[in-house]
Amino acid sequence: MTDAVPTGEDVRLALFDAYGTLFDDDGPTRRFAETLGERQTPLARLWRQKQLEYSWIRSLVGAYVDFWHVTGEALDYAMAALGIADPVLRARLMQSVLEPELMPGARSLLEALKAAGKRAAILSNGSTTMLAAAIMTTKLSGLLEAVLSVDEVKVYKPHPEVYRMAVERFGLPIETIRFLSANGWDAAGATAFGLETIWINRSDAPTDEVPVRPRAEVASLAAAAPLLGLG
Ligand code: LAC
Repeated sequence: MTDAVPTGEDVRLALFDAYGTLFDDDGPTRRFAETLGERQTPLARLWRQKQLEYSWIRSLVGAYVDFWHVTGEALDYAMAALGIADPVLRARLMQSVLEPELMPGARSLLEALKAAGKRAAILSNGSTTMLAAAIMTTKLSGLLEAVLSVDEVKVYKPHPEVYRMAVERFGLPIETIRFLSANGWDAAGATAFGLETIWINRSDAPTDEVPVRPRAEVASLAAAAPLLGLG
């Protein structure tokens, strides 16, 4: 599958998804592992699942609110479903979303892009404020040229408008851009729009059964480096 992507030499911009790709979205529940006990993994899964579902429902019915709001609503659902009634824990989990940890290999890949004179940016469903907080916590600002939020178009990925907004922003031929996401649905959406996509499939998950497949698949951010013309 990797062979489907044109050689990395001509890559001028690496465009990254944020949550799950550069930022560890299991981090918030992991920080409260002791309090949550065996409910930690179900809470993390349900929270993420509902967060995505709610963003897509809001896009389809035309009721956009930003991802911070959606993230809170999803957490409320997930906590209720698991019988967790704890407003202080809720507030702490939400605060942790603003202070994410980086996924393995994220900083070194961004540093390598910078050293090679290639551009790097984020395109995320996250709100402008959430992303700003995450960039500050992880100290990534010097490594990213832009952090684009769907707040600008008020519809969520994988709507084509989001990818279009990003491609138009950089003024580069689309074939010189690579979109990297650990989310299969996001890689599918970007591919459908016309971007060359690299799916970071860390858990060796099956490919989503949708008509558009990512153009390349690798097991880690580090493994994406050659596809970006690095090393
Ligand atoms: C992002 C999440 C939703 O767009 O993966 O950053």
